[in-house]
Amino acid sequence: MNRKYRNTIIAANLKMNMLPSDIKPYAEALKPAAASHGKRCGIVVCPSFLLVPQAIKSFRDSRISVGAQNINQYESGAYTGEVSAPQLADLGVRYVIIGHSERRTLFGETDEAVNAKVHAALAANLRPIVCVGETLTQREMGVTGDVITLQVKSALAGVPAAKMRRIVIAYEPVWAIGTGLAATDEDAATVCREIRTLVRGLYGARIARAVSILYGGSMNEHNARGLLSQPDIDGGLIGSASLSPEALSAIIEIASHDYL
Ligand code: PGA
Repeated sequence: MNRKYRNTIIAANLKMNMLPSDIKPYAEALKPAAASHGKRCGIVVCPSFLLVPQAIKSFRDSRISVGAQNINQYESGAYTGEVSAPQLADLGVRYVIIGHSERRTLFGETDEAVNAKVHAALAANLRPIVCVGETLTQREMGVTGDVITLQVKSALAGVPAAKMRRIVIAYEPVWAIGTGLAATDEDAATVCREIRTLVRGLYGARIARAVSILYGGSMNEHNARGLLSQPDIDGGLIGSASLSPEALSAIIEIASHDYL
């Protein structure tokens, strides 16, 4: 990471885990780490929609922001079962994960839909955490760079430079998500550097230097130090390990260390 130019962010993707009643004790367990390290490291917890109101309440007096895991691309209307960006923003949500690989593969979310959701998030003043990443087959075929380029370019299509400082990009190789098999420090660093180079080509050096790029995919308290010491990795998007407030607190502590 490079704290001089960009924010460090540790984001927890709780996925479809926990009950509404689990959020309060989870928040209490996480608050000490946030109080000690929250100045140097932005902390975002993204629970299921149903848990969001309790999360807003439980994290209100802390440095922890609440994020969502998805939004509908439309502002309002006849979209049964969906949740809009303005609805979340009105509750006090600050971030939203967009284009997670589980949404892309299990729910058929296309690059076009991801782009529409990025615009919807920005319009509602939510900060999008845009996920990109290659599958194992794509990696083995040697097309990782092409896949990432297409995903990043499509996700950012039409996003003006002035809004880019609100965007966070998360590189999440699909084969590393939930497998316990994180990318090596070098592989993760290479792709994150390529993403920054791509952003430089699209928006110029100043914006590229300031955009926070996270790594996600089996990051935990044991491998976080190596990954977060890479100059182009500015934080983590953490699934499995974030379900344990102790593990997440340990990662937050690592992410706020001076030596990184
Ligand atoms: P994982 O999930 O940490 O369990 O690999 C990361 C994610 O899906 O965002």
